[in-house]
Amino acid sequence: MNSRSRITLPRPLDAHLHLRDGQALATTVAASARQFGRAVIMPNLVPALTRCQDALAYRDRILAAVPPDLSFTPLMTLYLTEGMRREEIDRAHDEPDIYAVKLYPAGATTHSDAGVRHLDRVMPVLERMAELGLPLLIHGEVTDPDIDIFDREAVFIERVLIPLRRRLPELAIVLEHITTAEAVAYVQAQSGRFAATLTAHHLLHDRNDMLVGGMRPHFFCLPILKRREHRHALLAAATSGDPRFFLGTDSAPHARSAKENACACAGCFTAPAALELYASAFAQANALDRLADFASRHGAHFYGLPVDAHECTLIAESWQLPDELPYLDGRIVPFHGGQTLAWRLETER
Ligand code: NCD
Ligand code: ZN
Repeated sequence: MNSRSRITLPRPLDAHLHLRDGQALATTVAASARQFGRAVIMPNLVPALTRCQDALAYRDRILAAVPPDLSFTPLMTLYLTEGMRREEIDRAHDEPDIYAVKLYPAGATTHSDAGVRHLDRVMPVLERMAELGLPLLIHGEVTDPDIDIFDREAVFIERVLIPLRRRLPELAIVLEHITTAEAVAYVQAQSGRFAATLTAHHLLHDRNDMLVGGMRPHFFCLPILKRREHRHALLAAATSGDPRFFLGTDSAPHARSAKENACACAGCFTAPAALELYASAFAQANALDRLADFASRHGAHFYGLPVDAHECTLIAESWQLPDELPYLDGRIVPFHGGQTLAWRLETER
């Protein structure tokens, strides 16, 4: 096989992943462990993971669900609330398995009710994080009902992020799952420890894919898919080689019955074929040679971790992704379920 039909890369790191809890872990952890060596685990459980001890107990439940033939390291995060104390930040900093704190504006997305309403109320905690070098991961959307859902990310940058950066320029930040040209330009203009994650679904799709010819709930996620021009800006950033842009799937599982519903839940379950989906996006941009940096190196570098010593290989070979997988007491539809994919991932055992 020539080099174009086979790409070997260090096992990738997923810098933004939802695994849920309990029985769901049997499906979600296996799916991610087949693809990734490590993942930054989102804390939006119910109740939210606001204390180190809760995040570490969750980590043990995740590890117990890793299939015996695979290795997978969860990098834990805490859920920022207005009631969080500076002491919790000190504990998180001392705890080697906790890597970051997540900011959900209250009401912005799934399980964000416990999130932050007024940034002023968490400033002492953010100041402590800046002192200790603990990164803040941001869901960057305003929740103001007067702001159109398609504008919520760009308005967040203007109203929240720019003032926050002015107040606390040394705070390390990852702007999560960016979806707009405005966010790309903003990240490119930053200096210091500031980065952004990009999902496979936002690199591959625009809002027409979700809304033209029928409403497709499996494409519904937050931040919502935007216009085609935004997708092109995201793809250019992901494939630029700039280390501030790296892989974060935002794989967010919801049961088939919750997605195919009059009030569909937001979230795309991309984990089962995540690398293959990113490979299709990079192939579109003729940039497969940049995939290893984006998927396996830049994120590790941001978190001060070594690049994974194990490798995996993407092979240009078509295969069909299953329509659905068992999940809880029902089924779940993987993103692009039932479709033929152009790449297949093989992981070194
Ligand atoms: C996520 C979820 O379901 O937990 N949903 C989503 O659409 N991405 C939450 C989030 O990251 O916004
Ligand atoms: Zn998410």
